[in-house]
Amino acid sequence: MPKNIRFPLILIGFMGVGKTTLGEYIASTYQLSYVDLDHYIVEQEQMSIPAIFKKHGEQHFRCLEAHYLQECILQFDVIATGGGIIEGAQSIKILQKQSSIVWLDCDLKIVYDRIRNDPNRPNANNKSLYDLKNLYSDRYSRYNEIAFIKVNSNQSLKDLHDEIFNELSCD
Ligand code: S3P
Repeated sequence: MPKNIRFPLILIGFMGVGKTTLGEYIASTYQLSYVDLDHYIVEQEQMSIPAIFKKHGEQHFRCLEAHYLQECILQFDVIATGGGIIEGAQSIKILQKQSSIVWLDCDLKIVYDRIRNDPNRPNANNKSLYDLKNLYSDRYSRYNEIAFIKVNSNQSLKDLHDEIFNELSCD
């Protein structure tokens, strides 16, 4: 267990920046409990994310996200959130009470190539680079407001890990 880090460690950032991959890496390195909030929602609701968006709308998804975020904060050491977590006012309130929030960020062109036309991501599917840039710009200041540190995710998992743990260590 890493010393002097306050848990849970919460990863935020735009779709496709690598929150899930990094969360799994950190959790397996230290044998910590880990959850991907999107997967948790799908399991609890027994419904895919596109199906939730289609049947109940994005606002309902944001309510579910806030509800399950609170549950996960009480249960897990490492949490990878969905890219739109900062769209929900309730989720922002919950996150404002947390200290170890890491914002993963990288060049939008890299992200675009990863997520374009992903049928599992309703907010990326059928979107142009221009559309995604607008969404990213709209969200930027909220990631910035919520995060304790920002790191560029376009580096090896080991380097990312080292940067994050050096910055979060509070001794
Ligand atoms: C969303 C991001 C997704 C998922 C949902 C909405 C968004 O998570 O929560 O499709 O609005 O940015 P990832 O960041 O894991 O793709």
